[in-house]
Amino acid sequence: MISSQLTIVGCGVFGRAIVNGLLSDTSQSYSLSLTHRRPDAAKRLQNDYPNVLITTDNTDVRIWRSPQDLGTKHIVVIATQPRYTGDVCRDIRQAFLAADRTQQLVVVTVCPGITIKQLESWLPLNTSIVRAMPNTPIAVRQGATGIFPNQCTSSVVASEVQSIFKRMSPVVALLPREDLLDIVASISGSAPAYFFYLLQNLVASGAARGLPIDIGRDLVVQSCLGAAVLAQTAPKTTLLELLGHVCVPGGSTEKAIQTLDRFKSSMAIQAAVEESWHANCAMSKEALTEMGNIL
Ligand SMILES: NC(=O)c1ccc[n+]([C@@H]2O[C@H](COP(=O)([O-])OP(=O)(O)OC[C@H]3O[C@@H](n4cnc5c(N)ncnc54)[C@H](OP(=O)(O)O)[C@@H]3O)[C@@H](O)[C@H]2O)c1
Repeated sequence: MISSQLTIVGCGVFGRAIVNGLLSDTSQSYSLSLTHRRPDAAKRLQNDYPNVLITTDNTDVRIWRSPQDLGTKHIVVIATQPRYTGDVCRDIRQAFLAADRTQQLVVVTVCPGITIKQLESWLPLNTSIVRAMPNTPIAVRQGATGIFPNQCTSSVVASEVQSIFKRMSPVVALLPREDLLDIVASISGSAPAYFFYLLQNLVASGAARGLPIDIGRDLVVQSCLGAAVLAQTAPKTTLLELLGHVCVPGGSTEKAIQTLDRFKSSMAIQAAVEESWHANCAMSKEALTEMGNIL
């Protein structure tokens, strides 16, 4: 049975990840529609997802006709670059107000820096809005996502949005404050970058001692994956304790970590996160200032 109608506006990397996640799990089915503004890309999407309604027009009446058999909610995920979010919200508002409006409208955005206040100013009054901050491993259904709902969003709707994200993001954290999305973007959104940086340097260090790069890469990637699984399967063990377990006193790993400490690596990581957090906060403030200038 169809539980809700779900439309994804902007079906690029993220949009496709969510469609693939939804189609791979049929426990709860959605009536799916996708929009892509470029006809060539829409055609490719139609080939890849033959049973899904695909259109180049965000206001297409086939998406907004709202018959009873499509469920009581219409969840619209905006997955465009942030600079287009305002235009998309205006399309949604126009189409929703022109439709018969028997469904509850729920808008989810993954667009960094676009605040609830801005979204509320663009969308119909009382729209349930959820901001989400996923990361790139969603493409392999291993993402981590922070979400924050506005005041019009009931706990039932917030749980449904959480369960949609869970299909491609095993961790979906409900945040108590909107501004925490900025730090989530810095430590979780950017985490894959820190990880690749570390992997690259470990492989290069192996190569400098004669280990072929492909062998080093296989060993290092699997070691990090294994370490992540160890941390995940022992949630009560602190990360510092896990570090202690692999640092035998006087052993080579302990010497390595002492060297990282001597180079003040913790401070370097914290400084990197601070810099990224300031950049994320500035993006949100800039967007609000722009909005103030427009209103
Ligand atoms: N990818 C991730 O893992 C990830 C993680 C966290 C957050 N995000 C956020 O998710 C959003 C999408 O990221 P992405 O990587 O999927 O970007 P992307 O590959 O560029 O996809 C965005 C798509 O939206 C389309 N679009 C733009 N304006 C539109 C409109 N008015 N109507 C319909 N479609 C429109 C774009 O079309 P064109 O191709 O014509 O420009 C593009 O295909 C961004 O805000 C990003 O910051 C992504």
